[in-house]
Order: sequence, then C-alpha cells, then structure tokens
Amino acid sequence: MQLRVVVLPGDGVGPEVTEQAVRVLREIADTHGHNFDFAEYPAGGQAIRTSGSPLPPATLDACLTAHAVLLGAVGAPEFDHLSFDRRPEAGLLQLRQALGGFANLRPVTSYRALNPASPLRTEIVEGIDILIVRELLGGLYFGEPRGITAHNGSSVAFNTMRYSVNEIERVARVAFKAAIKRRRKVTSVDKANVLETSQLWRQTVTRIAADYPEVKLDHLYVDAAAMHLITNPKRFDVMLTENLFGDILSDEASVITGSLGMLASATIGGAVDLYEPVHGSAPDIAGQGIANPLGAIGSAAMMLRHTAKLEDEARDVEAAISEVLRAGYRTRDIARGTGGRVVSTAEMGELVCEAVAGVADMRHAYHAV
Ligand code: IPM
Ligand code: MN
Repeated sequence: MQLRVVVLPGDGVGPEVTEQAVRVLREIADTHGHNFDFAEYPAGGQAIRTSGSPLPPATLDACLTAHAVLLGAVGAPEFDHLSFDRRPEAGLLQLRQALGGFANLRPVTSYRALNPASPLRTEIVEGIDILIVRELLGGLYFGEPRGITAHNGSSVAFNTMRYSVNEIERVARVAFKAAIKRRRKVTSVDKANVLETSQLWRQTVTRIAADYPEVKLDHLYVDAAAMHLITNPKRFDVMLTENLFGDILSDEASVITGSLGMLASATIGGAVDLYEPVHGSAPDIAGQGIANPLGAIGSAAMMLRHTAKLEDEARDVEAAISEVLRAGYRTRDIARGTGGRVVSTAEMGELVCEAVAGVADMRHAYHAV
C-alpha cells in the first residue's frame, strides 16, 4: 500500500503531537510492509512568520496532490490582533475549503482506564461511544456577507449563517451511513425554534432519513443537546450538527473522555481527506513535551481506516492506544485520579509504537493458529 501524506505541524503543540502520529504511522508501515511517504509543509502562524501567508501556495499545492493531510494545530497569541483573514485560523479554513471535505467525524470514546480522569461521574461516562458528524464547509464559518463596518460613529460586525439543501443532504447521508454500522441512531442538532437555517436543516434531515429506515432519527435543540451530553451521554450514538454547533459540542463532549487531548478527527467527502486532532495549539504548554499526542495518533488511525482502507491497521493503532492506557501510562492532562505513571509526549508516542508492534505480533500469532 502506497500512501502520500502531507504533514502540516502548524503552531503550539502541533509539531510535537504530529511527530508522534507520524512515528506511529511509520511503525505501521514497517510492521505491515506498506510504503508511506511524509512531506512537511508550513501552515498557520508558522507559515505567516516565514512567508506572510497562513496557507502558502506551495503548501496548498502539496496538499492537493497528497492522498491525505495530517494537521497538528494552528493559532498563536501573537496573531490575535490581526483581522480574521490574516490569522492562522483563516489558513485552516481555506485549506478545508480547498480540500473539499464537508463531513468532519469526531469520535468520542471513553476508555475505562480514563474514567476517573473525567470530571463527570464514572456511571455517566463509562462505555460512551459517540460519533459527532460535524458539517465543516458551511454555516457561519463561510457564509457571506461577513465583516466589521463603521456605523453611526461606532462599529457593527456581522456574519451569515447559510445552508443549502444540498449541503445538508450530503452530510446527513454520511451520518446515516455511519449509524448503520453502529447502534443505528442519529440525533440531529439544530436551533429550529429560532433559526431558518435550522428549520431547513431539520426538514432536510427528516426527508433523508426515509432512505435509511433501519436508523432511528431524533432531533434536539442545541441548548438541550449541550445539557444531555453532560447529564446523559449514553443517549447518543451519532450526533449530526452544523459547523459551529459541532465545534462547540465536540469540545464539550471531550470532557467525557477525560481530556480534549484525546479527541481525533477525520474530514472526508472531498478531493483530499484531512486529519487533525480536535484540540487547538495550546500555546500555554507548547514546547514542554507534555502535550497529549493521542488525539493526533487517533487521527492517524482514522487516516488508515478512511483514506488507506487499512481497517486492520487502524484497529491495531486503536488497540495499542487502549493497551497503553490500560497499562497505566498517562500524559499530564489525563493523569487526574487515575493513579497512572505520567510520561512525556514522546514517551507516549513510543509506548504506542511498542504496543502496535506487540498487537501486530499477537494478531499474526492468532491468525497462524
Ligand atoms: C476545530 C478548531 C477550528 C474550528 C479553529 C482552529 C478554526 O476549533 O477544529 O475545532 O473552529 O473549526
Ligand atoms: Mn474547535
């Protein structure tokens, strides 16, 4: 199997966590005889510093000809004063749009070993397995017009929440198809009691649901969804959301797992798939070797599954993550109350690699019997 990956380490903890994800992918390539090729390019604040642009043409060109893109994180406080279109985050949005992936999959899985690390009670978080399907190319993030203008001697700022039927349909289908392979339930999140975009969202999702009779559909207003996610997360299987609601709810859902550092994501449906941990650049802990690489490593596992179609290898990585946690190894963010041994970002990456090698051995032994 040939896989050409463009790696965009980006800002803050991005370089540290992507380094470990690449290491795990190399381990998989070695143990299974695949040929994975990695090329690094600057993006976000890192690129602004060297070229003035958060998404230089050379970076974009490389991404467009890759099989997959692995991004660390973008955003740094030194750029906070810039207008939106010149910030590192604008580069990420341009990249998402250019690659074309409209369905952002964010699995929220609770590992038993990490239950005590969650601020929620164990009986609430244990066994949780939710897939958030976040629409990624529409809504307030991309709607026009947007801007800040002078008005009566002061300023007015505005953004546009906009969705077409087609944009809703295509992401809804991803959610229903995913649900068929899971527990066959989709909860669609909207604010249909206030927003026209949400009324169209609800109507369209309800219509598409008829094509998937084996899947049960329910609807929640986003405020209620935020509440249920914390009080009764077991009620969710697949959660389908528009762009901004999904951004907010996925950070909230991460507390179930113990840390935002645990969450992985895959963006599919476009010309080139994009993989990024859900966490941001975390400038406060950057460069200290303490960031949690498991979100980035989990994103690499999703790359094996969705782009490379290497389901066994994806499961090996996920099993390795689970094994390392079960054995008691923790980065600082997930150490709370679990009595584990605290390790660095690089040590965690190495442990997952060792477990991957071990898992692969075990699987071969099993097949040989
Ligand atoms: C995320 C991030 C991004 C988003 C930012 C960095 C633009 O928060 O991937 O969740 O809002 O989509
Ligand atoms: Mn976010």
